[in-house]
Amino acid sequence: MAILVTGGAGYIGSVTVERLRAKGEQVVVLDDFVRGHRASLEDSIPVYQGNIGDRELVARIARDHKLDSCIHFAALIEVGESVIDPAKYLANNVGQGIAFMSALVQEGVRQLVFSSTAAVYGDPDRIPITEVSRQWPKNPYGWSKFFMERLLESYDNAYGLKFVALRYFNAAGATEKCGEDHRPESHLIPNVLAAALGSQQAIRVFGNNYPTPDGTPIRDYIHVVDLADAHIRALDHLRRGGSSDFLNLGTGHGYSVLEVIECAREITGRDIPVKMESPRAGDPARLIADPAKAGTVLGWKPAVSDLRSIIRSAWDWRLRHPSGYSAQS
Ligand SMILES: NC(=O)c1ccc[n+]([C@@H]2O[C@H](COP(=O)([O-])OP(=O)(O)OC[C@H]3O[C@@H](n4cnc5c(N)ncnc54)[C@H](O)[C@@H]3O)[C@@H](O)[C@H]2O)c1
Repeated sequence: MAILVTGGAGYIGSVTVERLRAKGEQVVVLDDFVRGHRASLEDSIPVYQGNIGDRELVARIARDHKLDSCIHFAALIEVGESVIDPAKYLANNVGQGIAFMSALVQEGVRQLVFSSTAAVYGDPDRIPITEVSRQWPKNPYGWSKFFMERLLESYDNAYGLKFVALRYFNAAGATEKCGEDHRPESHLIPNVLAAALGSQQAIRVFGNNYPTPDGTPIRDYIHVVDLADAHIRALDHLRRGGSSDFLNLGTGHGYSVLEVIECAREITGRDIPVKMESPRAGDPARLIADPAKAGTVLGWKPAVSDLRSIIRSAWDWRLRHPSGYSAQS
C-alpha cells in the first residue's frame, strides 16, 4: 500500500516525503511542477508529472500503486496573486481539487490529509485562534482552502472519505536536503535571508504602526519538520479509524517582523537592511495559533520550532543553495 503525496515537489511536500520515507513508507508523488522542484526529490521516488485534476492519471496511480491514503499539498499559494487572478486560484485549488477527490473516492481511497491554512480565519476575532474561531477569509487563496474544507465535510458525509484538515500558521525552516524556494517568494524568513546574502537589496517591511509592541505584525512560525511530522501523525490517526477533524498547527507563540529580522542578524552575522513600506491591505496585526487540539487528537507538539532553530536551519540550507534549487529544476 502506498501513500500519494500531491505537491510533493513543493516546499512542505518534499520535506514530508523525506520524513515518510525515513519511516519506511511507500510514497508516490504527483506534481505538475508549475511551482515545484524535481531536485527536491530523490531519484528513486516514483514521480508523476501531471495535474491533480487529471482523473484518469489519478485512477491509474491509485491502481498501479495500490493507494490507501493521500496527503494533499498541491495548490497555488500566493495570496497577492490570488487577489489579482481569483479565477486561477479557484480553478486550480478547488476545481481541480474536486476532480481529484472524486477520482480518489472512485478508486476506493478513503483517507486524506489536507493542507489547509490559518488564512481561513481572516482577521481573527480572538487570539490565540482556536479551530472554532470565526472563519472569514480575506482573499481568494483563503477562500479556496475554506471551500475545500467544506467539500471535504460533504465527501465524508456522502462517500465516507475520512480527512484531517491541517491549518498551518507560518511554515519556515529546512532540513539538510530540502528548503524553501518559492518563485515568487513572498514569505518573510527566506526573503530576510536573501537580504542577508545580498541577493536582494533589503527586506521590505509592510507597516510599523500596528497595535503590537514594536508596531510590526506578529506571526506564529512553525518548523517545516514539525509540520511534516504532524501530517504523518494525522495519517496514523486515520489509519487507526480516527474521525475527520480540523486542526491548527502552530506553536502558540508569535514573533514580530522586526524580531525575526533581529534574530536573523544574530544567526547570520550579516547586515540586513530594512526598507519600510506602507501596510498591505488585509494584513492582521497578530496571528497566533492555539495548537492544543492537535496535541489532544494527534499527540503532536512542536519539537524544533523555536525561532533560532528555524532560522538556523533555513540559513544553513540557503548557504548550501545560494540560488535555491537549480534553475532547470
Ligand atoms: N508555506 C506556507 O507557509 C503555508 C502555510 C499554510 C498553508 N500552506 C499550504 O501548504 C501546501 C504546500 O505549500 P508549499 O509552501 O509547500 O507550496 P509550494 O508551492 O512549494 O508547493 C505546492 C506544490 O503543488 C504543486 N501544484 C500546484 N497546483 C497543482 C496542480 N493543480 N496539480 C499538481 N501539482 C500542483 C506545485 O507545483 C508545487 O510543487 C499548500 O496547499 C499551501 O496552501 C502553506
